[in-house]
Amino acid sequence: MKKICPSILSADFAKLADEISEVEKAGADIIHCDIMDGHFVPNITFGADVVSHVNTITDLPLDVHLMIENSDKYIDSFAKAGADYISVHYENNNHLHRLVDKIKSLGVKAGVVLNPATPVLLLKNIIGNLDFVLIMSVNPGFGGQKFIENAVDKVIELKKMINEFNPDCLIEIDGGIGLNNIKLVSDAGVDMFVCGASVFKSVDRVGVIKEMKRLIS
Ligand code: DX5
Ligand code: ZN
Repeated sequence: MKKICPSILSADFAKLADEISEVEKAGADIIHCDIMDGHFVPNITFGADVVSHVNTITDLPLDVHLMIENSDKYIDSFAKAGADYISVHYENNNHLHRLVDKIKSLGVKAGVVLNPATPVLLLKNIIGNLDFVLIMSVNPGFGGQKFIENAVDKVIELKKMINEFNPDCLIEIDGGIGLNNIKLVSDAGVDMFVCGASVFKSVDRVGVIKEMKRLIS
């Protein structure tokens, strides 16, 4: 089943528990947590302690997207904090098999993320080890950016690779996803839709999530 994953990056952190509870009641499937360190991306967000608090206020699975240097040093703490999914970027991790094995050994689903300029082809020798691939449809660092169209072709190419080498691997997309393009990317093969601004900056979050679910069903 396809899953809507609101990103709390665009939520109001002064009332995070209420924000999460609202999207949970509205039918969100997974909570997406964006971890940024001010080095790999030009922004800083939060770490494992906050993820651990988020874990106490929701029953939904947590999807931790690491946009940090030295990801390997922090896998244990995010797993301990309650991450159900952890994704690491292709661009700044030299030993992906080792990292992916480590994530899986902790009972967490492992994903690799591709920036908009990183070709899908580069995953060919690791796709068989992955639980999911995250295709960035913006350059990571901020919420509310404009969707980069080449993501659709990348999803189609990735879906072919997945069908050939690892049919269980899921495709996630992140960046600029909203009511205007969710069906397009769903038809291309996306299983998990990260939605930041389109959900949390809307006055009718319940309505938006319901409509998203209708469009991808
Ligand atoms: C961007 C983050 C995204 C962000 C998406 O670096 O990875 O998860 O929250 O936000 P929207 O949906 O507003 O583009
Ligand atoms: Zn993200």
